[in-house]
Amino acid sequence: MKEEDTMTRTVVATTPIEGQKPGTSGLRKKTPVFMQPHYLENFVQAIFNATGGAKGKTYVLGGDGRYFNDRAAQVILRMAAANGAKKVIVGQNALLSTPAASNLIRKRKTDGGIIMSASHNPGGPTEDFGVKFNSENGGPAPEGITDRIFAETLEISEYYICESHDLDLSMPGMTTIYGMEVEVVDPVADYHLMMEEIFDFEAIRALFASGFTLRFDAMHAVTGPYAKAILEGSLGAPEGSVVNAVPSPDFGGGHPDPNPIWAKSLMDLMFSGEAPDFGAASDGDGDRNMIVGRNAYVTPSDSLAVLAANATLVPGYKDGLKGVARSMPTSRALDRVAEAFGIACYETPTGWKFFGNLLDAGRATLCGEESAGTGSDHVREKDGLWAVLFWLNVLAVRGQSVAEIMADHWAKYGRNYYSRHDFEAVDSDAAHGLMQALRTRLPNLPGREVEGMVIEAADEFAYDDPVDGSRSEGQGIRILFKCGGRIVFRLSGTGTEGATLRVYLEKVETNAAALQDNPQNALSGIAAAADSLAEIRNRTGRNTPDVIT
Ligand code: G6P
Ligand code: ZN
Repeated sequence: MKEEDTMTRTVVATTPIEGQKPGTSGLRKKTPVFMQPHYLENFVQAIFNATGGAKGKTYVLGGDGRYFNDRAAQVILRMAAANGAKKVIVGQNALLSTPAASNLIRKRKTDGGIIMSASHNPGGPTEDFGVKFNSENGGPAPEGITDRIFAETLEISEYYICESHDLDLSMPGMTTIYGMEVEVVDPVADYHLMMEEIFDFEAIRALFASGFTLRFDAMHAVTGPYAKAILEGSLGAPEGSVVNAVPSPDFGGGHPDPNPIWAKSLMDLMFSGEAPDFGAASDGDGDRNMIVGRNAYVTPSDSLAVLAANATLVPGYKDGLKGVARSMPTSRALDRVAEAFGIACYETPTGWKFFGNLLDAGRATLCGEESAGTGSDHVREKDGLWAVLFWLNVLAVRGQSVAEIMADHWAKYGRNYYSRHDFEAVDSDAAHGLMQALRTRLPNLPGREVEGMVIEAADEFAYDDPVDGSRSEGQGIRILFKCGGRIVFRLSGTGTEGATLRVYLEKVETNAAALQDNPQNALSGIAAAADSLAEIRNRTGRNTPDVIT
C-alpha cells in the first residue's frame, strides 16, 4: 500500500470569519491575519465552493515567495486533494510569478489557479499576504466570481483537508496526495519558452554582444530567477546585470514596488556617471515594471505608447495590433499612436480585470496602466519582464538609446507631460467630501476659466463594457481643458489606511522647443488648477502630495 493511501480526509467544522471580501486583486491582509486558525482554510474552501467545487478539476498553484507562501501552499494542496481535485500543477518551491501562473493556466488548459501574493506590498511576519483566484482564461476572477466567493465566506460551516506530511516541492516531478496528482514544475521554463516565441532573442543577444549594458533590479522578489535565466542565461547580459535576484520572504526588508521612490538605488545609478544603457525593475509578483534609460525615466504611460508605436518591430506583433487599451487615468499618449495607426483605443476603469474581455474578444492586443502595468494578449495579467524584453527588442532593432527613442516619439506624436500626485491616509470623510463637492459642481464647470485655462468638459467616468454590456460607474472625475490638458481625481481602491486621493495631471505639448521640460514644471499650472478646483489643501489639510510619480 502506498503511503498516501493511508492518509485521512478530515471534515473540519468552522464558522464564517469577517472581512474576507476580495478586493481588486484577491484577498490581501496582514500576514498574522492570514495565519489565524481557519482563516486561509475558510477562504480557500470558499473559492472551491463558489466555483462549483474542486472535484475532478486541475489547478495551477504558486506565489511570489513572501513569508507564509510555503506553508500556505501545503495547506492549499491538502485542501485541493480533500476536495477531490484531479491535479495541481505547482511551481518549484511554490514559486510562480503572476504572469507565469497566468501562462500555465492557459497553456495547460486548467480550471484556474490560486496565486499567493500581495503584489508590491511588503512581505514578512507583520507585513502583507494575499490569495487570489484566477479563472481558466488565466485572468483575475471577474467580479461575479469574487462576489460569490465572498458570499461563500459568509456561509461557510466546514472545510475539507487531508492529514499528510509536507510534500517535497523542492524538485520538479510528479507525486500524489490523497489520490490527487501534484506536478512540480520549473517556474521559469514555460514562461521562458513563451518569451522566446514573442521576442527576437537573436537581435537582443547581438545587442548584448555589442557591449550594451543593463541593470535589472528584481527587488528581492520573484522575478529574480526569471531575469537571471532569461537576461543573463539566454540573452547574454553580463553576469551581475540582474541584482537583488534571490527571492526572500521579506523582500530584503524592502518595498518591492518598481517606481522612482522604492527603486531609488536604480534611479540614482541611472542618473549617475556609471549608468548602464538600460535600467528596469519589477515588483513582488512580477507583473509591474519600471523602465529607465540613462538619464531618462520613462513614465508607464509613455512606455505603453512607445511599445504600441514600435510593436511591429517585435516578431510576436509583426502583423500589427488589433487595438489597444488603457485605464482612464493613464495618459492619452497611447490615443495619439492609435489614431496614427487607425486602430481602436479603449478607455477602461482602473484595474487589470477590465482588459480581460477586450483581450479575450480579440479587440485589443496591447494594454496598460499608469500604475506600472503593461501587458498584451499573451497572458491575462500584466507582465513586468515581458515589458523589459519588449523594450530590449525595440532598442536592439532601432539601435538608439532610450532618450533618443523618447525624443523621436515626442517629436512625432507630441508629448503628454504626466504626473500623479498622491495624498495618502487622508481622513476618509474629507476625501469623500472633496469628491462629492466636485461631483456636484460638474455641470457648471464647462466654460469656466481656471489658472488661465478654459474647461471644455467635466464628468464622472463610467464604463460600458463593449463585450458583455456591463456598466461600471463612479470611476473617477475628469476635467478636460480646451488647451488639451486634463485632471483626473480618484480615490484609490487598494489603500489600507484612510483614503488615498490620487490626482492625475496631464498636459499635451506639441511645440518642438518645449518637449524636454521637467514634468513638474510643465504641469505646475495644471497642478494649481487641481488645487483650486478641488480645494485639496483646505479639505485635506495637506500642502504637498505624499508621493509624486
Ligand atoms: C492594482 C491593480 C491595478 C491598478 C492598481 C492601482 O495594482 O492590479 O490594475 O491599476 O492596483 O489601483 P488604485 O485603486 O490604488 O489606484
Ligand atoms: Zn504585482
